[in-house]
Amino acid sequence: MQGQKIHGSIFYLLKKFVAQELPPDSWDILCESSGTNSEPFSLTENYPIEIMNGLMENASKITGLDKHSLMEWFGQYLVNDLFFLYSDYIRPEWRTFEIVLNTEAVMHGAVRRLNSTANPPILNVSKVNEKLLIVDYYSRRKMASLAIGIIRGIAEYYRETDRIKIISMTDPDDERVQIRLEFL
Ligand code: HEM
Repeated sequence: MQGQKIHGSIFYLLKKFVAQELPPDSWDILCESSGTNSEPFSLTENYPIEIMNGLMENASKITGLDKHSLMEWFGQYLVNDLFFLYSDYIRPEWRTFEIVLNTEAVMHGAVRRLNSTANPPILNVSKVNEKLLIVDYYSRRKMASLAIGIIRGIAEYYRETDRIKIISMTDPDDERVQIRLEFL
């Protein structure tokens, strides 16, 4: 975990998430209790993952939610903003299946090209058949719960929640996590 960093845009969106979804003043309380003084987060810099983990641990205390549920919720929330920011890369005919299948090559690829400071996780997505995707997540930042939340948020965006089962096949705290997506 030592030396791992997260892009400022994710912190920026975390602040927006906390302001919109958590009780009033939560952001100030979180920053104070986590000893965070990096604010305002710059969109061209990266910040140590320990800051994210500290903010999340304290957000857990405020909400009573465990860290996985909180990360999933944040991931779900992120989708509208990510889609807005990277709309040029998303084809109108795509739905959850195609978005997940193309994230690594198209969206995360664009993030890496356009934003030299950002370093999204590697997602190896296998299309087993028309109704089954296997996502192999790999990142030393160990944020697979965020990935699960993002997938859930994409399904919500396309109103496909009822027809998609998202199952973490391995421990979401690991660096390598396998996520199974069944399309009913
Ligand atoms: C429009 C689609 C997407 C865009 C534009 C996008 C963009 C980004 C950006 C900018 C970051 C920050 C990278 C950094 O900190 O250096 C990130 C991180 C991340 N993305 Fe995506 N993403 C998209 C879709 C997805 C999907 C579909 C998944 C999951 C299947 C995913 C999983 C993650 C995770 C878990 C992280 C946190 C960092 C880590 O785990 O190492 N993203 N993404």
